Amino acid sequence: MTEESPQFNSWFEGQNDTDALLKDASAHQDEQSSELSLRPKKLSEYIGQTALKEELSVYLQAAKMREEALDHVLLFGPPGLGKTTLAMIIASELGVNLKTASGPAIEKGGDLVALLNGLEPGDVLFIDEIHRLPMNIEEMLYSAMEDYYIDIMVGQGPTARAVHFPLPPFTLVGATTRPGMLSKPLRDRFGIINSLAYYEPEDLAEIVTRTASIFEAPITKEGALAVALRSRGTPRIANRLLKRVRDFAQVSGKDRIEPDLVTMALDKLRVDSKGLDDTDHKLLNFMIDYYKGGPVGLGTIAANIGEEQDTIESMVEPYLLQLGFLKRTPRGRVVTEAAYNHLGVPYDRED
Ligand code: ADE
Repeated sequence: MTEESPQFNSWFEGQNDTDALLKDASAHQDEQSSELSLRPKKLSEYIGQTALKEELSVYLQAAKMREEALDHVLLFGPPGLGKTTLAMIIASELGVNLKTASGPAIEKGGDLVALLNGLEPGDVLFIDEIHRLPMNIEEMLYSAMEDYYIDIMVGQGPTARAVHFPLPPFTLVGATTRPGMLSKPLRDRFGIINSLAYYEPEDLAEIVTRTASIFEAPITKEGALAVALRSRGTPRIANRLLKRVRDFAQVSGKDRIEPDLVTMALDKLRVDSKGLDDTDHKLLNFMIDYYKGGPVGLGTIAANIGEEQDTIESMVEPYLLQLGFLKRTPRGRVVTEAAYNHLGVPYDRED
């Protein structure tokens, strides 16, 4: 603790949020523990996202050579592409500690202080869903990011005063699925801004093969590609589908995962040949059946298929847009001819 903030400890102990915050983080980690063991630990083990990896590797080496904290990093892209994994790799490559938090869980100034308190020089603080940070917390982060200090108000009424709390140099890694929702002042404070793209089938197949070998579940090259092709360009989905396919292999006494088994298992899971699941089908069929393919407003779609608008925008739509199955127009979403063809529905629109 610093001399400049003698009140800090007692003020801080008055806040009861540390436990809740840590519990929140540990629940989050439990939930993802199997995923955690599948995560690569080094940049050289990380498959895909080649341009991003090459860039990061330069910045990591330079920061290490200068013995400085790495500049703040903002990673954006659809869920499941490896933003958290990259934050872990950044900390491990730098040989520093990683602290993890989620934007909406940081509700009060004390929560942020709890996270920043105890950071050692060069450490990495990872904030997932950083676009959901409350505004007052975001504002506290500005000085923390730019000049490594925060000013906190202690006391109330006439005795209230600001306590200056210096921080060691640290790296904030922020992740978001919605870069458009980040304020400009926050965005401007990141020195390294990069997006993660959907993975190519070949890269995903390599990830599936790697995961299968961790599971000790033999899989052919073609089997891995068959899983990859139905995984929406997303490693998290590929690994999840692989687990289910492995179950089918086990129960049906197969000693190797081959394409026919993958097809059988994923058909049972109602994941189609392009990786579309029930939610995608519900969305497209709703638009086709009730609005002749659109345009339809996002609110209408959300209300009718029983999903949150935010979920649709960040998790469902991006892949449909990428496939060219959906278009965004000023008047709403429109289903494309390619989607009609994929679903086997006759396309009778003029445009
Ligand atoms: N597991 C999940 N994502 C991965 C990636 N990008 N590289 C290697 N293994 C992974």
